[in-house]
Amino acid sequence: MIVLGLESSCDETAAAVVTAEGQILSNVVLSQVEEHAPFGGVVPEIAARAHITQMDRLVAKAMKEADLDFDQLDGVAATAGPGLIGGVLVGLMTAKAISAVQDIPLIGVNHLEGHALTVRMTDKIAFPYLLLLVSGGHSQILVVEDVGKFRRLGTTIDDAVGEAFDKTAKLMGLGFPGGPAVERFAAKGDADRFDLPRPMKGKPGCDFSFSGLKTAVRQVLENLGETVTEQDKCDLAASFQKAAIDALMSRMKNAYKIAKADHPEIRNVVIAGGVAANASLRSQLEAAAKEKGYSLVVPPPALCTDNGAMIAWAGIERLRLNLTDTLDLAAKARWPLDPNAEPAPFAGYKA
Ligand code: KG4
Ligand code: ZN
Repeated sequence: MIVLGLESSCDETAAAVVTAEGQILSNVVLSQVEEHAPFGGVVPEIAARAHITQMDRLVAKAMKEADLDFDQLDGVAATAGPGLIGGVLVGLMTAKAISAVQDIPLIGVNHLEGHALTVRMTDKIAFPYLLLLVSGGHSQILVVEDVGKFRRLGTTIDDAVGEAFDKTAKLMGLGFPGGPAVERFAAKGDADRFDLPRPMKGKPGCDFSFSGLKTAVRQVLENLGETVTEQDKCDLAASFQKAAIDALMSRMKNAYKIAKADHPEIRNVVIAGGVAANASLRSQLEAAAKEKGYSLVVPPPALCTDNGAMIAWAGIERLRLNLTDTLDLAAKARWPLDPNAEPAPFAGYKA
């Protein structure tokens, strides 16, 4: 079984071909970072236009690298939401066209399910597992029970954690995307110099909030006045990173308890999303998971950030179960993985 997967829900245009054995035959990702960099964040209109310009070429490239013709595909999958709707439409319409012309099944994939299932392609792990999904667009803790079956233990109620890294970097003029820049500066800073809040720490449940932390960073900078030195930036980056990770760790602590009560059979904790690239987060989570008797599993960095292979793989998982879609499938800006989860109105599509 071979599936082509398309991704266009945020600022990466991506196409990939994956087999049922989890072999990635091609995985082409075009980042729009340079287009958005002058604005310090993703601009939806610019993203949608860039996806339109690039998608056909990327599909052709992915097929060529996989050394396949379209009639060798068993299905075509595309992110159908959640995300920036203009972009989602581009990938989904492209997939519909391929499905119609080749007469192969269309699979509309929830972008979050793509992140959630990647680890089954890379590490062949069994359901259920606990997932910390942290990126520029999402901050969620989920129990992944099966294909299409998730229990959301927590979500951000405002900003995503990657977004907080990006905004902190923007306030200090460190460049975009902010996460890697903040991590670099933090390595040279004193994490205890600035006393920043740990949002939601100690509260019950697993929800996150990051907008207060961002405001605190702004206030520190205002108090420092005009003369912000390189060392100030390093110290603030380190203090911010420590606070953000502390907040994540405190939420995970509650998640272990809740997940274990329902699913004593869980063995693995997984991190996915761009923030999983953060070495400090990974090492702290690994130690905490080990203490609780879990193994930490992290897909390779290129498969943690947005890509087409994760969508193709989710397509494979769904196609195996005959969970295919018809050509009238609608693109969705919001699409929670767990339909029973409480909505978080200020988080928009991130919840
Ligand atoms: O998964 P991703 O590529 O795209 C989204 O779906 O958002 O994640 C990108 C996010 C950005 O917010 C970026 O700043 C963050 O991941 N990020 C990091 C690091 N590398 C990327 N955050 C913290 N530390 C890093 N090393
Ligand atoms: Zn993503």
